[in-house]
Formats: sequence, structure tokens, C-alpha cells
Amino acid sequence: MTSLFLHAAQLLTLRGPARARRGPELRELGLVRDGAVLTKGSLIVAAGTTDEVTKPLRSRKQAPITEVDCSGKLIAPGFVDSHTHVVFPAPRLDDYERRLSGATYEELARSGGGIRSTVERLRSSTGKELLTLARRWLCEAAAHGSTTIEIKSGYGFELKHELRMLRAAKAAAPRTGVEVVRTFLGAHTIPSEYESKRRAFVSLIIEQMLPQIAKQRAAEFCDVFCDRSAFTVDEARSVLEAARTHGLKLKLHADQLTRTGATRLGVELGATSVDHLDCTNEGDWKALAGSDTIATLLPASNFFLGTPYPQARAMIEAGVAVALATDFNPGTSPTISMPLVMAIACSQMRMSPAEAWVAATINGAAALARADACGSIEPGKRADLAVFAVDDFRAVPYFAGMNLCEMTVCAGRRCRTGYTGS
Ligand code: NIG
Ligand code: FE
Repeated sequence: MTSLFLHAAQLLTLRGPARARRGPELRELGLVRDGAVLTKGSLIVAAGTTDEVTKPLRSRKQAPITEVDCSGKLIAPGFVDSHTHVVFPAPRLDDYERRLSGATYEELARSGGGIRSTVERLRSSTGKELLTLARRWLCEAAAHGSTTIEIKSGYGFELKHELRMLRAAKAAAPRTGVEVVRTFLGAHTIPSEYESKRRAFVSLIIEQMLPQIAKQRAAEFCDVFCDRSAFTVDEARSVLEAARTHGLKLKLHADQLTRTGATRLGVELGATSVDHLDCTNEGDWKALAGSDTIATLLPASNFFLGTPYPQARAMIEAGVAVALATDFNPGTSPTISMPLVMAIACSQMRMSPAEAWVAATINGAAALARADACGSIEPGKRADLAVFAVDDFRAVPYFAGMNLCEMTVCAGRRCRTGYTGS
């Protein structure tokens, strides 16, 4: 199918090198007025002004083209949400209410709530239930303009359940159109029965889970929650080093609740991204700036927990390649809306709207090692587009909490955004 999206008030191409942007590049949107995009099959064939894109079409005989008039609208690359926990069995509304009356995230975890309660619930959920929910959330993500989403395991604690999560993540993708990238997060927290024998649980992950995850090609990345209430830096190192020998790429939940030094570990191991970074310092930013590791900030989790935001401005000034993602999960970030994340990033972390766009698209793609395939609108890249009912890119973060995405195109096809329960 060939499609022509034309006459957009603004087209954000984000054209440029197929890698993360940092420094002044973080503000370069490749903005085109009266923009058009031509897609053929799953790929982008041309992007530029409507005149530039349509001229060659007039002189040659063409196969039928579906035209989509985007007058008065914004065309942007689909968002690349590079950090989510989409597959979970139920929201944690009791935790939510208790936290609002004073309990902290870590206190809830210690008293029977938190990640462990989600694990318990997941183990008694059927594969069909997990799949139906995952589809529902992917439809929501697409409705808000996301076209590529990373999904982590981590609520299984056992290989069998971790694999069930990763299978549900994969199976949810085709009907919605969104591309799913899978991450094994076997090291999410220590199960209560292993509290006094942590080493045994880490060995279980390394010796039993990782080889199977790799053998079954169930995930492309391996992640560890390295924090005071989860895994130590040494434990994270041993899991990630083992993952690397199995050919998995690396990610880390780093320096979120306390400063553990996980960001430095990520840089040292050549992780594709380190995520959260709420408690990082100048030395950490310097290390990041001198590396290819992406700093993925998840400010919706700070918004939801009421905790201090990561210092995005200082990181950007230090030359760090910053990405934004939702962290969609039942404990710390119950939103899958990238426009809301951009709104929070701008108003609370003082990122500029242009920086937020770059961080949510091409830098998100880099955080999934896909900067050559998606995250910008350029010939040869996958035809992943989000069309917004606004005529200025700044309006997307500005209209906080409103969904102004009108159409999402994944690999050249309109995404399914309405959830019908099947
Ligand atoms: O990214 N920090 C660890 N993991 C998630 C929370 C998961 C949960 O609470 O269920 C996060 O914030
Ligand atoms: Fe997370």
C-alpha cells in the first residue's frame, strides 16, 4: 500500500545521524512547514515539503496512492517508549490509597504490597488474561502516538512465569501494530523465600533463567533493578555480565531511590541505557557524557510518587544523551501516555518542547538500539507516524493530560487504537 500524508502544518522529520542526539542536537527537529510523507509498504519513501514530495509523483505513472490530508495538523515520528512494564495482572489500587495517606513505595513493598503482590497475582492469572490486558494497554499506547514499545518481564520470579510474560508481550503486538521489544528483568526484586539466601536467587537467574531466555530468544535486552530495596551493584554486575555472554544487550534501573553507583556500572558495562537516574551526581553525568549509554528519564514515576525529579537540565548541559519513557507499571507509573511524560518533562524538569520531542523519539530509538530503523521520518526508515490535531509541536506537551493524537501509523498501516476486548 502506498500512502501520501500531505499539507501538514508542521512535519517533524528529526532527520540526522542514526544515533542518539546530545547537546545542541537535542533541539533539532528538522521541522518542515506544509510537510508531506510518502510511505510504501512498511517503509518511508520520501519526506519534505508537500511540493517536494508530490512533484516526482506527478511526472511518473503511479500505482494508486491513498491520500491523507493533514492540513492544520502536526506529523511526527511515532513515539519510542523505551521502558515499560506493560504485562501486569492488575493495578495496585490499595497501595495507591495507602501511599496517599503516607506510606512510601518501599514501606508498601515491605508490608505485603509492591512488586511481590503483583507477582503473586500474576502467577494465578491465565495466559489469556495477561494477553488481553497487554493488548488493551498497547491499544492505549498507540492511541497516544507510540509505535515502538519496550516491555519487561519481572513479575514472575520463576522462569516459567517470566517466559509467560514475555510470550504475552510478543503475542499482544501483531493485532495492535505496535512494535514490541522485549527485556528480561528476572532481577526485579528478591522473592521473600530467598531473602536470607540472595546468592541462590542470583545464581538461579544466571544459571537457569538466562540460558533459557537466550535459547528461546525470549528477550533482546536484560535489565536489573539495582537499588537499596532490590539488587546490589555486585549482584547487578554478575547478572549483566552473564547476560552479555548470552548475547543480550543491557539496561539498568539505576540510582532511582538511592545512589548506588548503578549508573557508573551501566557505563562501564556498555549498557544501551541506564534508566531513572533520580539520585545521580555530576560525576555520573560526566561518565554518561563520555559514553554511548543513553540516560532514560522516567519523570511520570516521580510525578506519581511525589519524589524529586532527575536533573534533566544539568544532564543535558553536561552532554548526556537523554531519552524519555513512560515506565508504565502498576506501582510507580500508571500511565502509558508519552505526551503526558513530555508535559511533565517540560514543566517539572525544564526540558524545552524540542528537547522533549527528540528525547521521546530518536533518543528513545537509540535506547532500544534502533536509531537506524525508527525514531525519525526519513527515507528507508519504518513508516511509523503520529498525527496530532495541533499545528505547532509545542502544543503537545503544553496541553497536559489531553490526548490530541488523531492517527497512529505503524509500519505503514493505521494502528488499532480502540480496545474492544479481543
Ligand atoms: O521502574 N523500580 C522498579 N520497577 C518499577 C516499578 C515496578 C512496580 O512497582 O511494580 C519502576 O519504577
Ligand atoms: Fe521500570
